[in-house]
Amino acid sequence: MAQISIPDERSELLMPARMPAPVIAALEARFRLHRLWEQDDREAFLARVGPRIRGVAVGPAFGRVDAALFDRLPALEIVAGFGVGYDYIDTAAAAERGVVVTNTPGVLDDEVADLTIGLLLATIRRIPQADRFLREGRWRERHFPLSPTLRGRRIGIVGLGHIGKAVARRLDGFGVAVAYHGRHRQPDIAYPYHDSVVALAEASDVLIVVVPGGAGTRHLIDAAVVRALGPDGVLINVSRGSVVDQAALIEALMEGRILAAGLDVYEDEPHVPEALVALDNTVLLPHIGSASVETRAAMGQLVVDNLVSWFDGRGAVTPVAESLGAIGASSRSSRAKSRD
Ligand code: 8YV
Repeated sequence: MAQISIPDERSELLMPARMPAPVIAALEARFRLHRLWEQDDREAFLARVGPRIRGVAVGPAFGRVDAALFDRLPALEIVAGFGVGYDYIDTAAAAERGVVVTNTPGVLDDEVADLTIGLLLATIRRIPQADRFLREGRWRERHFPLSPTLRGRRIGIVGLGHIGKAVARRLDGFGVAVAYHGRHRQPDIAYPYHDSVVALAEASDVLIVVVPGGAGTRHLIDAAVVRALGPDGVLINVSRGSVVDQAALIEALMEGRILAAGLDVYEDEPHVPEALVALDNTVLLPHIGSASVETRAAMGQLVVDNLVSWFDGRGAVTPVAESLGAIGASSRSSRAKSRD
């Protein structure tokens, strides 16, 4: 169905939490942008301004974008999310209200795949540990202990979407075997498919997790998967912390039931359990998969493009799958417009 809005030069937008400065500047040049995070009394502010808000620009740093927020924004037409993952946005509640949700696919695949390879090598060859060893002056006393190797390892990718495929292409260059698990076997993909994560873990020495977050993948990597990966296994997670049962992983790392883990994401960001930090067989990054200057700029631009295109009446550029069937988006726009 057509998803269009009626062109309106100064539609009012809400930005719940601060986004990159170029995004704010671009949106302010085109829209009337309200900064929720600067309000002392957010409830009063939403009660006053909420009924006029037609678009939201938001990233996961804000927390849940849910029915409670949507109820404060009865004229809302579009939520433009910053990031390819949108598990922080309640897409069902959005669809019920005819609100379109967009994300930023495509522009970060290579960046996240590069980081994944970096994290994989750092974890197996213990690069950060070696760096600390040198800085602490210990090289003068002895050699850094020999590390495990990537050579000969079988890599299992959990979630062979755009980012998963970008990771697999890079791994081809490393001469390691790749297999995958996803909801479905992909007929045009030659890598071996395993129909469960446990089966993939059993057949792998490294698991790389690149599935979307959300209820459907919560604790997909649980104690049984970690057990199947085994004591020489390495877990790399660049997707969402919710996908891994963090407590089970920590226990396995502490007891040597898994060799090492490289993590970019955690269950309760930015809080990382002390137990994980204290371990020597982990490499821990502060959710930086897409965090280069260039890629974050491209993501921000796509947020802006989605909102501009929508309010120019050209529809959303990158609506999420759950929004493709959103009913009533265009009629809601017409209603909103007729109130102006
Ligand atoms: C960012 C991400 O961390 O795209 C995603 O889903 O997790 C990352 O690119 C996030 O969107 C911005 O904070």
